[in-house]
Amino acid sequence: MEYNSQKIAKYYFYPALLLFILQIILGLYLGLSYSTTISQEIVNAFPFSTARAMHTNLLVLWLLLGFMGGAYYLVPEETKREIWSSKLAYIQLFLLLSTGVVALIGFLFGWTQGRPLLEIPRPLDLVVVVAALIFLYNIGMTVFKGKQKTVILGTLLGGMAFLAILYLFGIPFYKNATIDWYYWWWVIHLWVEGAWELVTGAIFAFILMKITGVDRNVVEKWLYVEIGLFLFTGIAGTGHHYYWLGAPKYWLWVGGIFSALEPLPIVLMVFDTWNHVKHRKAEIKNPFTFTLAVGTAFYHLLGAGIWGFVHTLPPINYYTHGSQITVSHGHLAFFGAYALLNFTLFYFALPKINNINIYKEEKGKFSFWTMASSMFLMGLAFGVAGVVQSYLERVLGFSYMETMEFTRLWMACATILGIFFLGGAVIMVYDLFNLKEKRYNI
Ligand code: HEM
Ligand code: HEM
Ligand SMILES: [Fe+2]
Repeated sequence: MEYNSQKIAKYYFYPALLLFILQIILGLYLGLSYSTTISQEIVNAFPFSTARAMHTNLLVLWLLLGFMGGAYYLVPEETKREIWSSKLAYIQLFLLLSTGVVALIGFLFGWTQGRPLLEIPRPLDLVVVVAALIFLYNIGMTVFKGKQKTVILGTLLGGMAFLAILYLFGIPFYKNATIDWYYWWWVIHLWVEGAWELVTGAIFAFILMKITGVDRNVVEKWLYVEIGLFLFTGIAGTGHHYYWLGAPKYWLWVGGIFSALEPLPIVLMVFDTWNHVKHRKAEIKNPFTFTLAVGTAFYHLLGAGIWGFVHTLPPINYYTHGSQITVSHGHLAFFGAYALLNFTLFYFALPKINNINIYKEEKGKFSFWTMASSMFLMGLAFGVAGVVQSYLERVLGFSYMETMEFTRLWMACATILGIFFLGGAVIMVYDLFNLKEKRYNI
C-alpha cells in the first residue's frame, strides 16, 4: 500500500463480505420456499417477498460497498495523492451501513416501496443520495487535485456519476404502470449493463495493469474500445425489457438487435484479458489473484453474455419472460460479472493493505472453485426449472401453480447446491479476514 488513505477500502470490504453471507442465507430461504411447503405461520411472519427484497437489496448494497471501497483503494494510486478527506469516506460508510440496517428491519415490518431490487422507501433513498454525493465529491476532489489524470480515473468517475444519476430515476412514482416500469429499467438495466460495466472496466483494467505489468497505454486503449461498445449496445439494449411492457412496438427491433450485440464488448474483455496474460511483463506474485481475474472475465461472458443472449431475442423472450430462466441468468450474471470482480479486488487489495507480500492461497482457491462450480450448477438447475416452466405454462397453458409443482425438484437441487455455495463463501470470508503471509521452508 503506497498511500495511507487506501486503507479506507478495508472498512468497506469487511462489512460487504458479511452482508454477502447474509444475502446467501436469505437465498436459501427463497430456494426452500420454492422446493418445500413452508408452514403458514412462518410465511406470515416472514413472507417470500420480504426475504426476496432482503436477498436482492443486500446484493446491491454489498456490491456497491465493494465498488466504492475499490475506488478508495485505486484513486490514490492513480492520482498519486491521498484521498481528499478520509473523514468524509467514513461518514459516507456510516450512512450507507445504517441505511442498510434500517432498510432490512423496515422490510420485516412491511416498510417497502415495492419495486423489486429498489424496495428501500423514499426517506432512505434520500440518505443514499446524500451518501452518493459525498462519495462523488470526495473522489471528484481527489481526482481534481491529483497529480495524474488517467483514462482509468475518468472511466471510474464517469461510471460512478452515471450510476448515481440513474438512481434518481428510481425514486419518483408514476401512476401509469408502464411508465413506472419504463423508468425502473433505467436503474436496473442501465446499472448492470451500463454504469456498472464502466466501473468494472476501470477497476479491472487497473488490477490487470498492476498484476501483469502490461503498459498503461495498452490497457487504456482497450478500455476506450470496450467502454464505447458497452455504452453503444447497452443503452439501446434497454429495449429488451420493453417488449411486453406496453411500450411502442419498435422496441422489439431496437431491443432485439442492440441487446444481441451486447456480448460483443464482453467477448472483447475476455480477449483483452487473454492478451495481457500473453504479454505480461511482471512476475505474477500471487497467482490466485490472477486466476480470479481470468475467472471473472470468463464467468462474465458466461453469465451475462451467453446466458443473456439466449433469451434476449423477442421470439424466445416471448416464452421465457419472467420465468426461472431469467433467475438463472440473474444469478450467473451477477455472480460472474460483479461478485467475482469484487472477490478479485478483495484478494488484490486486502493483502497490500495488511502488508502481506505473498499470501497463503489454499483456502481462497478452494472457496473459489467451490463457489464457481456450485453457482454454475445452481444456474443450470434454475435454468431447467425455467425450461419446464416456460413449456408447461406458456406452450401447454398450465396454470402457474400447476407448473410450480413440476419445478420443485429443480428448485430443490438449486437449494442444495446453494448450501455448497454458502460453504465456499464462508471459507472465503474467513480467509479474507485472516490473510497470512506465505512462509517458505528454506
Ligand atoms: C453483468 C451484466 C448483467 C447482469 C448483472 C444482468 C442481470 C439481470 C437480472 C437480475 C435480470 C432480471 C431482472 C428482473 O426481471 O427482475 C435480467 C434480465 C434480463 N437480462 Fe440481464 N444481466 C446482465 C447482462 C445482460 C446481457 C448482456 C443481456 C443480453 C445479451 C441480458 C439479457 C437479459 C434479458 C433479455 C432479461 C429479461 C428477461 C425477462 O424477460 O424476464 N442481460 N438481467
Ligand atoms: C445459496 C445460494 C442462493 C440461492 C438458493 C438463491 C435463490 C434465489 C431465489 C429462489 C430467488 C428468487 C427467484 C424468484 O423470485 O423467482 C433469488 C433471487 C435472486 N438472487 Fe439468489 N440465491 C442464492 C445466492 C445468490 C447469489 C450469490 C447472488 C448474486 C451474486 C444472487 C442473486 C440473485 C438475484 C439477482 C435475484 C433476483 C433474480 C430475478 O429477479 O430474476 N443469489 N435467489
Ligand atoms: Fe437488461
